[in-house]
Amino acid sequence: MRTAEQHVHDLVGIGFGPSNLALAIALRERRARTGERIDAVFLERQPSFGWHRGMLLEGTTMQVSFLKDLVTMRNPASEFSFLCYLKERGRMVDFINHKTMFPSRMEFHDYLEWAAAPFADQVEYGSEVVAVTPVTVDGAVEYLDVVARGSGGGLSTRRARNLVVAVGLDPVLPDGVACDERVWHSEELLDRLPSVTDPRRFVVIGAGQSAAEVTDHLHGRFPDAEVCAVFAKYGYTPADDSSFANRIFDPSAVDQYFDAPEAVKESLRSYHASTNYSVVDLDLIDELYRRHYQEKVQGRQRLRILNASRVVEVARGPGNVRATVQFLPTGERAVLEADVLVYATGYRPGDPLSLLGAAGEYCKRLPTGALRIERDYRIATSASLRCGIYVQGATEHTHGLTSTLLSNTAVRAGEIAESVAGRLAGGGREPDPIDGLV
Ligand SMILES: Cc1cc2nc3c(=O)[nH]c(=O)nc-3n(C[C@H](O)[C@H](O)[C@H](O)COP(=O)(O)OP(=O)(O)OC[C@H]3O[C@@H](n4cnc5c(N)ncnc54)[C@H](O)[C@@H]3O)c2cc1C
Ligand SMILES: NC(=O)c1ccc[n+]([C@@H]2O[C@H](COP(=O)([O-])OP(=O)(O)OC[C@H]3O[C@@H](n4cnc5c(N)ncnc54)[C@H](OP(=O)(O)O)[C@@H]3O)[C@@H](O)[C@H]2O)c1
Repeated sequence: MRTAEQHVHDLVGIGFGPSNLALAIALRERRARTGERIDAVFLERQPSFGWHRGMLLEGTTMQVSFLKDLVTMRNPASEFSFLCYLKERGRMVDFINHKTMFPSRMEFHDYLEWAAAPFADQVEYGSEVVAVTPVTVDGAVEYLDVVARGSGGGLSTRRARNLVVAVGLDPVLPDGVACDERVWHSEELLDRLPSVTDPRRFVVIGAGQSAAEVTDHLHGRFPDAEVCAVFAKYGYTPADDSSFANRIFDPSAVDQYFDAPEAVKESLRSYHASTNYSVVDLDLIDELYRRHYQEKVQGRQRLRILNASRVVEVARGPGNVRATVQFLPTGERAVLEADVLVYATGYRPGDPLSLLGAAGEYCKRLPTGALRIERDYRIATSASLRCGIYVQGATEHTHGLTSTLLSNTAVRAGEIAESVAGRLAGGGREPDPIDGLV
């Protein structure tokens, strides 16, 4: 009898966030169109579907148009669109009257959960992938064994012809900083906040969208607490969401970026970093300034902006944490005693190689050392690895700024579905055009 462990899946997806959810939908829609079934299963470490739950703050809105949902850019007739979700929830006309392209993050989370629900039989929640092991047949790697730890601690293995790694973002903390009950990363804000009682002061570090949202939330939620925003910039700077710049997220921009020389890639990334990194929606900047000014008028400054500043030392005090903040223009230092320090210091894409283990030895690198990833999001591998390893997310160096965002998810998922189908039809592996390159 075949056990679940011996069964070979056409595709195993690691992670079931929006990227692999969009892929699951693309595969289902492809099957309806072509009749071809691709046997796909997804492993997700969270106990149920969740999209950055720790930052699902009241009042925050999406940073992409609802038309850039899981499907519409690929298939406007899909039954998994945000519009179909609205229709099913009975809110279509109310949403239209709302006159916005940018739903609240809470509503979009509900949309994502709604879209994920029909795939429950293809997703193993509470299953964290801890290793990937190559399975060699006659000298070539034919399959990859994906080892996952279940919620009870036990290990199970799924065998795959193709792997799609979509593990999202890892939080970034300054060197030497570790999270504890008084030092948090913004990603865990809502999980940690219930542990705080009668806070007197929060310190929020960073000047990106997360930092501004955390500052805004804490200031509103704790009317007796002081909130100190500490960042190196002189002021929060606005996210560039203007129409021409937004074209950097178009599907055609991915093609152009992919084919561009390295120097052009680098300059495009740097020209347009302000569409995404270390920037804040202008409305929120205006709101924070309005409050800051109003407090000046009232003579009670509770929202403090410590600009051009850095936290240079953190120490534990009795029942608090002490942050030494340096004002960069003068070097002057001051100590802030706080209940909690929130590091809103951003993220970096999870490194596929940290999961791939020995399979990583078959992956090719660019001269920079970064993974060589083909246009179809498949890692270039040596000929002796016959399985496909695809990456969603950690492809900014090859596919551009849209890689970690939602803008191109629908189109990318369709491209990966077609590529996997093509490889399966071709007997598992096509000739590798760049074989021989390191
Ligand atoms: C607070 C916040 C708000 C954002 N808002 C927007 C926005 O409005 N618009 C936009 O375009 N982008 C936004 N982003 C960017 C974000 O990267 C994308 O929205 C989106 O989450 C990308 O989807 P994903 O599936 O690639 O990654 P994720 O959503 O991070 O999903 C990855 C999944 O993989 C799982 N996982 C990780 N490791 C393992 C493992 N070893 N085994 C099993 N499962 C694993 C995780 O639990 C997670 O569920 C936001 C990011 C943050 C932090
Ligand atoms: N509502 C929403 O949709 C929403 C909400 C939150 C986040 N997001 C998205 O999530 C992504 C990440 O945003 P983010 O704000 O978390 O990260 P981010 O844009 O990368 O900003 C990180 C901030 O932390 C600072 N920082 C980094 N390392 C530091 C260090 N060692 N010491 C001090 N400061 C440091 C950076 O300052 P420097 O630039 O000076 O290094 C920057 O101000 C973006 O795509 C954003 O749009 C969306």
